[in-house]
Amino acid sequence: MCGIVGYIGKADAASVLINGLRRLEYRGYDSAGLAILDDDRVMVTKAPGKVAVLKDKTRSSWAPELMQRASIGIAHTRWATHGPPTEANAHPHLDQSEEIALVHNGIIENYRALRARLEGKGHHFYSETDTEVLAHLIGDCDKGDLFQAVTDALHQVEGTFGIAVLSAREPDRIITARRGSPIVIGVGDGETIIASDASAIVAHTKRVIYLDDNDIAIVTGDSVEIRDLNNVPVTREIAELGIDAAAAEKGGFEHFMLKEIHEQPDALSNTIRGRLDLDLGSAVLSGMATSPRELAELSRVVLVGCGTSLHAGLVGEYAFEDMADVHAEVEQAAEFRYRNPLLGSRDFVVAISQSGETADTLAAVREARQKGAFVMSLCNVVGSTIARETGRGVYLHAGPEISVASTKAFTSQVAVLLMMALKLGRGRRVSRDEGIRFAREIESIPSLVSKVIAQSDRIEAIAKEYSANEHAFFIGRGPMYPVALEGALKLKEISYIHAEGYHAAELKHGPIALLQEGTPVIALAVDIPGKDKTLGNVEECRARGARILGIISEGDHETAEAMDDYIAIPRTDPLVSTVPAVVALQLFSYFVAKHRGCEIDQPRNLAKSVTVE
Ligand code: G6P
Repeated sequence: MCGIVGYIGKADAASVLINGLRRLEYRGYDSAGLAILDDDRVMVTKAPGKVAVLKDKTRSSWAPELMQRASIGIAHTRWATHGPPTEANAHPHLDQSEEIALVHNGIIENYRALRARLEGKGHHFYSETDTEVLAHLIGDCDKGDLFQAVTDALHQVEGTFGIAVLSAREPDRIITARRGSPIVIGVGDGETIIASDASAIVAHTKRVIYLDDNDIAIVTGDSVEIRDLNNVPVTREIAELGIDAAAAEKGGFEHFMLKEIHEQPDALSNTIRGRLDLDLGSAVLSGMATSPRELAELSRVVLVGCGTSLHAGLVGEYAFEDMADVHAEVEQAAEFRYRNPLLGSRDFVVAISQSGETADTLAAVREARQKGAFVMSLCNVVGSTIARETGRGVYLHAGPEISVASTKAFTSQVAVLLMMALKLGRGRRVSRDEGIRFAREIESIPSLVSKVIAQSDRIEAIAKEYSANEHAFFIGRGPMYPVALEGALKLKEISYIHAEGYHAAELKHGPIALLQEGTPVIALAVDIPGKDKTLGNVEECRARGARILGIISEGDHETAEAMDDYIAIPRTDPLVSTVPAVVALQLFSYFVAKHRGCEIDQPRNLAKSVTVE
């Protein structure tokens, strides 16, 4: 979604800001802009479209000397919420005096009332955005102290914000604040970088400060002073970023998505390393921070998340019930937060989020804590809001995921959920021998994934055959049902093919009406319990002219014959087989999208991290 970068230091601010915006491109956006200070003037350039367009526009409208002189500025990539992605709606926005510039992530919910009040005082607005209203409000509050003006304005707004503000009247500082939308401050050597995401900072410094909600900071080139909204100083630790700049490069791959698919054996090794106890047949997940007694007393596991993370949760549901003998349910985080869920201290709520910033998942965490449930998170981004708010959790250690379509985060989430189920199961009914068997299967996941990736050429050849279709159905049963959902999601996200995932048994209850000669049906027919019934469903589809692509188990010749095309994955435990199966579908979707000429890493309308409801 929207991205923020701010810079104050010795370097040419415009270049730093544009490079920072480039690092945030993966988040998804549709316009961009930046503001720098030149003496006592705020200079703004904005453009719909990509950062490259903004860069060209900046170069053609600003003299090179100006670019070199300016050493303070703020910049933004906007994912349209209030008003279309036009130049007028792009950030930064100026106040009435045109001396204050603001970039903003989040939503100001009471902007209409604030706008009407400011219009009554003679303010004129040029955009349809809530952000311009906040810029004017700050200007209206400014009586000679920008920090105080921002504080006063933020007291009047309802909603969420991550902001960076500069003023021509105070050219030595940027004010930044957050509520519900992340802000990270990079503390460099004589320079300070503000961003909504550490990936815009890592090229400059690894020393960062994460703001908490309602923190407001005065940032100069060599200092960061943080207060709360009541002007009381607060201390935030400087943390060390665990990522390096190279992780945010494509490293020779055509797309980040392909790179991240290929990274999965390593990412999964990092996720699993040190977390399996092969003697006890259990998992060592200190982040769960629960005693065996607490684990034994848990009555229910509730997994919450959105998108791909929700699908990982669905695999987890099977694992918890099968392995741990505990009632498990999965819920879309937005639904969970608003339906007044019944929760108690014996309920174990697991929030699953790659970014750790998804607004609905964060709200679900808060709701669960409010109700006294035991809450933990499963995040990839270290220091993210959900990870920090839950306090306990298990990091994925999958490395930065840049492609909007999630791949390695999903497989790492599943790996962690399997380990959690094992740990929980060993405190209940799973025997040591059974635990050791399952732990060994988990340990083998990276090599299973490598074997699927090794078939890339074959998968590409198959994908090419399917790339001209406009509809596709994915079907599966048991743990392959969530894999079918995730396969359909991947395909629609990046190839814009209308793809639906169904439980194989559900197809007859409606969707089968849509099958025509040649409609692709991707059947998860891995050799696990339920396969025969899925094969029955495959026959029903074939009888209606569908073209069947099977994801099957290695050596299962009989099943291969029931398919028009097939991709074979290595044999393993049914729960574990979800991982190689999904990797086959990731590659299939990737190659279909590639043959359709789609913009794979930044699909239209999608955002990497959805920080608004
Ligand atoms: C967006 C992304 C998806 C992701 C979902 C949840 O929709 O495009 O890839 O699965 O958000 O994100 P999270 O960071 O909470 O896992």
